[in-house]
Amino acid sequence: MTLQDEFRSSVVVVGASRGIGRAIAKVAAREHNVVVLVARSPEGLAAAALDVEQAGGKAFTLELDLLAADASARLEAFLAAKELICGVLVNSAGYGLRGPAAALPVNDQLGIIDLNIRALTDMTLRFLPGMLARGRGGVINLGSIAGFFPGPYMALYYASKGFVRSFSDALHQEVSRAGVTVTCVSPGPVSTEFLERSGADRAALFKILPKLDADYVAERAWSGFKSGRRRVVPGISAKLITLVAALLPTAIILPLIGRLQRRRKDS
Ligand SMILES: NC(=O)c1ccc[n+]([C@@H]2O[C@H](COP(=O)([O-])OP(=O)(O)OC[C@H]3O[C@@H](n4cnc5c(N)ncnc54)[C@H](OP(=O)(O)O)[C@@H]3O)[C@@H](O)[C@H]2O)c1
Repeated sequence: MTLQDEFRSSVVVVGASRGIGRAIAKVAAREHNVVVLVARSPEGLAAAALDVEQAGGKAFTLELDLLAADASARLEAFLAAKELICGVLVNSAGYGLRGPAAALPVNDQLGIIDLNIRALTDMTLRFLPGMLARGRGGVINLGSIAGFFPGPYMALYYASKGFVRSFSDALHQEVSRAGVTVTCVSPGPVSTEFLERSGADRAALFKILPKLDADYVAERAWSGFKSGRRRVVPGISAKLITLVAALLPTAIILPLIGRLQRRRKDS
């Protein structure tokens, strides 16, 4: 069943110009949805729009910097101008930084809070009331296995994903009886530019773990969301890690993650 409805519903993908967001947009397009692609890069958005059209969907693109204070209001105005509503929201924009928190630039670390937490929250709270009023649709938030424990040498990123997990779980409980789904997708390493940009690819932890394909993560995310699931942890190794994280005390996890996340030559 398509999520398209009489209100000219759309799937809004925030962080759609590459990586997991772009892959989810493609999967949603296969069901002939209207897909609104949001990110900063015009080239990335144009390529994602082509993917969507080729997969059978209708694409709209919006160049938007989520760090702008009025980002969600601008997205809402864009949708209104196109006579669209946000039936499904996918929050996939996010970044991380690896290194000791006391040494990394403070503003860059605060930017992780602004993007991974503030912008995701703002988008979610702006569009959730409409979904509740209609009694359908929902939100897919990109968390991470990093959201299941603290992460020395990537402290802000792990903490931000802990927020995404907690926030999404709580919302799921609040809205699921009203016919709306909030799903938190928590992958391990995925082969996207994120790994190099964040410096995570140089940490032993990310060298050890197998890397998933963004298309696979997108399939799991979309089918889990459509089944009304609270959490999706794609891949066996990510599932094992979340299980181990639940069993081991923090006193053991902290030095373990710390050691695995420092650069090899630092250790
Ligand atoms: N890759 C992994 O290993 C991995 C693992 C677990 C979880 N995740 C999470 O999954 C999500 C997607 O990651 P990814 O691997 O797809 O990352 P990615 O390839 O780096 O893509 C990030 C997306 O976010 C957009 N974005 C970043 N800053 C933005 C801003 N200020 N305003 C608007 N858009 C912005 C980027 O577009 P523009 O640059 O064009 O704006 C891009 O479309 C993130 O939340 C990440 O934390 C990733």
